[in-house]
Amino acid sequence: MRLDRLLASSGLGTRSQVRDKIAHGGVSVNGTVVTDASLHVKDTDSIIYDGHEISCQTKLYYLLDKPDGVLTAMEDKRLPCVADYIPSELMSRKLSPVGRLDYHTSGLLIITNDGELSHRLQSPRYEVPKIYLATFRGPEWTENEISTVASGFTINDRGYSEKIAPATLEMTFPSSDGMNRALLTLREGKTHEVRRIFAHFDREVTALRRIGLAGINISRDTDSCGTFRPLTENELGCLLKATAMTAG
Ligand code: URA
Repeated sequence: MRLDRLLASSGLGTRSQVRDKIAHGGVSVNGTVVTDASLHVKDTDSIIYDGHEISCQTKLYYLLDKPDGVLTAMEDKRLPCVADYIPSELMSRKLSPVGRLDYHTSGLLIITNDGELSHRLQSPRYEVPKIYLATFRGPEWTENEISTVASGFTINDRGYSEKIAPATLEMTFPSSDGMNRALLTLREGKTHEVRRIFAHFDREVTALRRIGLAGINISRDTDSCGTFRPLTENELGCLLKATAMTAG
């Protein structure tokens, strides 16, 4: 990535401000003062800006706890979208959400500019576990139904047959508000898959929250909705491990 772009997108100023700083000898790369704003820098370079070391990570990894009523999109003319939760200085870093949560689903969404990781997290090949907490209308799940879900089954709600991969369903107890809740772990990501599985068994999902992905877990309650933060090293490690990738 170009040095001026990296500095500006790290929140150190506008492109012209950081170019000015570079031109006046205020920036060094690997111990040498540089005056060429178009210099390409790597993740491993050590950059000092105005006497302070700055992170020059080109690959960025964030977690958004998406609120209900937000589109999984980087731009929308009418509706709130995930880009509204991303600080403006990061907008030039080509971040995008990994997969999508429905407009009315809250919870864990990874936001990154690492295309390979994003691709692998969504690929059925790696069977990355995604845990959903579903509040639903209808009876508790029977042992029979739970074992059908565990074996995988065929759904035909769109006029053609589709295979639903084996998934893990657990009822949760107790529910203080009297609503039925269940945890469903999917290892693939078909559109509206949780809602469709519940509908197939005559239950209606009334609220849906993703609380886990590849070993990263977030709170079951919705107090943290709207939080946008960098992944911890440990969390990034979980994603890399789940997708057979290595750091860097
Ligand atoms: N399944 C759904 O039905 N909705 C989501 O947002 C994610 C999985």
